[in-house]
Amino acid sequence: MSQTAEAPVRKLFIHTFGCQMNEADSSRMREALAGEGYVGTEVPEEADLILLNTCAIREKAEAKVLSALGRYRLIRNQRGTRLGVAGCVAQQEKEKLLQRVPYLDFVLGPDQIASLPSVLAKVSGGQRVTETGWMDSEEYVFPRAHAESSRGQVSAFVTVMKGCDNVCSFCVVPHTRGREVSRAYADVVGEISDLVGVGVREVTLIGQNVNSYAGGCTFAELIRRVAAIPDLARIRFTTSHPQDLSPELMQAFAEVPQLVPHFHLPVQSGSNPVLKRMRRNYTWEEYTAKIDKLRALCPEIALTSDIIVGFPGETDADFELTMELIERVRYENLYSFIYSARPHTSAIRHEKEWGEVPYEVSVARLERLQKRQRELTQERHQRLVGEVVEVLVEGESRTDDSRRMGRTVYNHVVNFEGVAPAGAFARVRIDRASVAALGGVEVDFDPPLIPVEKPAKARGLLPVISAAPKQGACDA
Ligand code: SAH
Ligand code: SF4
Ligand code: F3S
Repeated sequence: MSQTAEAPVRKLFIHTFGCQMNEADSSRMREALAGEGYVGTEVPEEADLILLNTCAIREKAEAKVLSALGRYRLIRNQRGTRLGVAGCVAQQEKEKLLQRVPYLDFVLGPDQIASLPSVLAKVSGGQRVTETGWMDSEEYVFPRAHAESSRGQVSAFVTVMKGCDNVCSFCVVPHTRGREVSRAYADVVGEISDLVGVGVREVTLIGQNVNSYAGGCTFAELIRRVAAIPDLARIRFTTSHPQDLSPELMQAFAEVPQLVPHFHLPVQSGSNPVLKRMRRNYTWEEYTAKIDKLRALCPEIALTSDIIVGFPGETDADFELTMELIERVRYENLYSFIYSARPHTSAIRHEKEWGEVPYEVSVARLERLQKRQRELTQERHQRLVGEVVEVLVEGESRTDDSRRMGRTVYNHVVNFEGVAPAGAFARVRIDRASVAALGGVEVDFDPPLIPVEKPAKARGLLPVISAAPKQGACDA
C-alpha cells in the first residue's frame, strides 16, 4: 500500500475523544497513515477514512462516540468513506462493536496502532476487521513521534508509559489500556531532543500513572534526564497517583528549574471510607501530609485535581469532607464528575451493597462543588491582576484572533494584546481575570529559538525584543 506517483491523495479525518493518551495516539495514527499516502483534513465530509479515537471513562463519553458514529454513517453512505473505531471503546467492546454497528469497517485497540496499515489493507480487500489484542510488555514498541509533523507546535505530549496497574474500583482504564509498560528513558529523551530540534519548547510527559514509571530509572530521574536537553524550557507531566508520589519527585519540583510548579494530583474524595471503597490506597491525612511537604519544598506550586461525587455509598457527611478538603488544599482548578458505573469495574458489582446515590443528589453536590471552586479559581486569578507574568506563546487567541495566547507555568491561559510570535516567551501585564482565562498587554518578549509561525512583520506588526526568558522555575 505504499504511495506511488499516480496514487490519488486520500484524506483522513480523526475525531479524538478523551484524554492526553488519545491525543498522542491520534498523532501517531496520523503519522502512520501519512506513510500510506493519507493527508489530514478538518472536514469529515471530504474524508476517505474517518477514525474515531474513543473514550470509555464515563457513560456520557461513550454515548458521544455512538452519536458521532451515527453522523458519520451518512458520509459513508454518500461517498463510501471507510469508518474505524480506535481507543478505549474499541478495546472495551471489541468485535461486539462490529456486530452492533453494521456500517463500521474496523475496530482497533490502543495497542494495535502499528497494525493500522495492515488493517486498512484488509478493509480494502472487503473484510471487516477487529484488532484488539495486547502485546507482551517485552515485545511492545512505543510508536515514536515524527518530529517533522510537530514543526509549528510549541508544546508536545510525549508518552512515557502506557496502561495502569492500579485497581481504583470505579475506573475502566486498566481494562481498556492493559498493564503498565514503561518506555525506555533513552527513547523518551531521543524523541524530545528531536522535538526540540523543530521548535518545541515545552513537553508534557504522559501516562495514566507516570509516578510508577520504570523505564530504566525512576520518574524523578527521568525528569532530570529530560531537563538536561538543551533549549527545552518547560516540563510538565500528567497523570499521577498520590500513593506513588515519592520524596524524590517532590525534590525535583524544588530543584529542576524546567519542571513547572504545577501539579495535577487527583484526590477523588475527601472522605476516608469513600477513598477506601474507591481503592485509592491513601487517606485524607496521608494526602494532605504529602501536599504540605510539597508546599514546604516548593511554596509557589499550584495544584489541580479530579473529584468524583455520588460514588456509591457517599453520604452528605462524606461529601462535606470533600468540600472541607478543597478549602484546606485550595486547588487552582478542579475537574469534577458524577460517578458513572462502568463495565468490568469492581464498584459496579457493589453498587447495591454500598447504596446508589440518587442522580439529583449527585447533581446538587456537583453544582455546589463547582460553584465553590469557581470562586476559589477566580480569587486566585484576581490576585494576578496588575502583575507581570511570563507566558510561552502558542499563537492567536482562540476567542479573538486579534490577540495572542500563551500559558503561564501554572497552565493559566493568557489572552493578550501584543505581537510575540508562537514559541516566544512574553511578559504580559495582567489587567483582567475570569475563571477561564487571564487577559493583559504584552510588556516585551524573547523571540523563539526556531521560528514556528509567520514572523510578526508579515502580520503587519512590529516585535519588541528584550532580555532572556525566566524559566518555569520554582524558587524554593
Ligand atoms: N489516571 C488518572 C485518572 C484517569 S481518568 C488518575 O488516577 O488520577 C480521569 C478522571 O476521570 C479520574 O481522575 C476520575 O476523577 C474520573 N473518572 C474515572 N472513572 C470515572 C467514573 N467511573 N465515573 C466518574 N468519573 C470517573
Ligand atoms: Fe484509573 Fe486509578 Fe489507574 Fe487512574 S490510577 S487510570 S483512576 S485505575
Ligand atoms: Fe478515556 Fe481511555 Fe483516556 S477511557 S480517559 S481515553 S485512557
